[in-house]
Amino acid sequence: MSHISECQEIQVTENLGVLEVAIQRPDRKNALTHAMYTAINQAFDYAEREPTIRALLITGTEGCFTAGNDMVDFLQNPPIGDDAPVMILLGKLATFPKPLIAAVNGPAVGVGTTLLFHCDLVYVGESAKLQMPFTSLGLCPEAGSSYLLPLMIGHQRAAELLMLGEVIDGQRACQLGIANAVLADAETLSHARAQAARIVAQPAAAVRLTKELMRAPFKDMLHSHMKVEGDAFGKRLVSPEGREAMQAFMEKRKPNFSQFD
Ligand code: COA
Repeated sequence: MSHISECQEIQVTENLGVLEVAIQRPDRKNALTHAMYTAINQAFDYAEREPTIRALLITGTEGCFTAGNDMVDFLQNPPIGDDAPVMILLGKLATFPKPLIAAVNGPAVGVGTTLLFHCDLVYVGESAKLQMPFTSLGLCPEAGSSYLLPLMIGHQRAAELLMLGEVIDGQRACQLGIANAVLADAETLSHARAQAARIVAQPAAAVRLTKELMRAPFKDMLHSHMKVEGDAFGKRLVSPEGREAMQAFMEKRKPNFSQFD
């Protein structure tokens, strides 16, 4: 077991071929800052290049996966451009060559949900609440979700989640096919770890090849769509509606969109 993260809010541990990345900022519901994305990116790089690492498991704290991007960062230092740490992470999620596993309890908002569409195995607790409130925030989908989600669950069901920002629980996530199993909260992480151990025991090259083949049919399309989506998202972040929505969240009030066309 070893620590490879210098960011206190991202705990990285290595155990029997699995790199575990835990988002640990409970006082802010694990909202992700630029520094936290950078630390996660370093963990992904390490996991990709280190031959002894055969899978990456991402999780949060006991009662929360992540509230998504930090709103203060969104307002003060919007992540625009390909070199923003969050954009770098999204690129890594889409191309990570080893099995990616998630264990999710409590809120998984914004990128907390969209990153799951890039995972190979997703385990959710009974408290899981997945939500992509992009339109309510004056934003648009990100992380390839406007391509991947309709592909995974069909256009109309994806529209309820992406246009209405509906919150879904673990059971519904399983019914829709975006999670593998729903567990008692206390068992989510241990179950994900057990599944990671099973995958690590498989022949690594065969597992990597299987992942590559499963993603090959849509890899190029996903790459080009993520570019288009990322540009649109960057523009929405600095739009008046987007800024009003984020400001309203920080000021704990309802946003007022009436002044915008
Ligand atoms: N960025 C910055 N701070 C955040 C945050 C975020 N994304 N999400 C939560 N926080 C902060 C809250 O402002 C609050 O701060 P305070 O203690 O100073 O009041 C603290 O974390 C606890 O959040 P709170 O809203 O009180 O917890 P909750 O259990 O009632 O609700 C969420 C949890 C995740 C449902 C809710 O916080 C939320 O909707 N967050 C915003 C999610 C979001 O829209 N993310 C961006 C998607 S693109």
